[in-house]
Amino acid sequence: MNNIYLSKKTEVIGIRKHTPTEWSLSLSIQTETVPGQFVMVSLPGVGEVPISVSGYTADSIELTIRNVGEVTSHLCKINPGDHLYIRGPYGNGFPLEEFAGRHLLLIVGGSAMAPVKPLIEYCLNNNNFQLEGMDIIAGFKSPRHILFRDEINHWKKKYNVRITVDRDEDYAWMGSIGFVVDYIKEVQDISEDTRAIIIGPPLMMTNSVRELLRHGVKEENTYLSFERHMKCGTGKCGHCRIRDKYVCLDGPVFNYNEVKELID
Ligand SMILES: Cc1cc2nc3c(=O)[nH]c(=O)nc-3n(C[C@H](O)[C@H](O)[C@H](O)COP(=O)(O)OP(=O)(O)OC[C@H]3O[C@@H](n4cnc5c(N)ncnc54)[C@H](O)[C@@H]3O)c2cc1C
Ligand code: FES
Repeated sequence: MNNIYLSKKTEVIGIRKHTPTEWSLSLSIQTETVPGQFVMVSLPGVGEVPISVSGYTADSIELTIRNVGEVTSHLCKINPGDHLYIRGPYGNGFPLEEFAGRHLLLIVGGSAMAPVKPLIEYCLNNNNFQLEGMDIIAGFKSPRHILFRDEINHWKKKYNVRITVDRDEDYAWMGSIGFVVDYIKEVQDISEDTRAIIIGPPLMMTNSVRELLRHGVKEENTYLSFERHMKCGTGKCGHCRIRDKYVCLDGPVFNYNEVKELID
């Protein structure tokens, strides 16, 4: 039986480098995951960190890691054939039943594409799960920071995808420039029945929620995903607590109504 509280030794079976600081690792592990969940990843003698599941198959998961400090820098030096330890998956994931048959609008900032990617792939690949349509607005610092380029090209065949960059240092980018919030007004199918998900830096989430509400999306149809410092991942240590919410147990995905005092 799969015990989510025990760390399992898993082999790295593939590595993809997206940007100088962001990598995806494929790990040989069988686990059932809901899009939006995370796992605790540990390297003996280094430490343990929460990382979203950015993809999965029947016998593997993918993690996309941004090198920001002690543990993540070691994770980005790992090679195929190396081992690391995984426990989980933890957290609630996205409320898929809430999205069925609806127009879904995803507003994503940078490396937050990692938890959103399995949701998009679930919608694309699951014939029993139909949406009315999907719009994706994803923003990155510059063209060099864009993640999952191949997947994005594939998503564009079925969904409306807009990629925007804050700046274009090479003057070669033919796409949109500006913040994600600037492009919400261009989504054609936005309505009070739209289900919206916003994931990214705090200011981007605050501004995007305001703009969505101005365009008629209902508070109760808006979802956010939070990142907080975590230790246990299982509701024991209190590190991830925001008032009465434990991000590791009650989240990381929250309905806007549950957390609006925290971001306004
Ligand atoms: C639910 C969840 C899902 C996550 N998914 C991913 C993911 O898919 N990919 C990924 O790369 N990262 C993800 N993170 C963030 C990741 O856990 C942190 O970047 C990591 O813990 C940093 O550890 P470190 O030892 O490398 O950095 P440290 O040496 O501990 O810290 C380096 C710097 O990063 C900051 N930092 C540390 N933890 C966090 C955090 N949780 N949020 C924001 N800043 C932080 C510190 O304040 C410090 O400035 C997720 C976090 C959570 C809670
Ligand atoms: S990480 Fe310990 S309670 Fe959430």
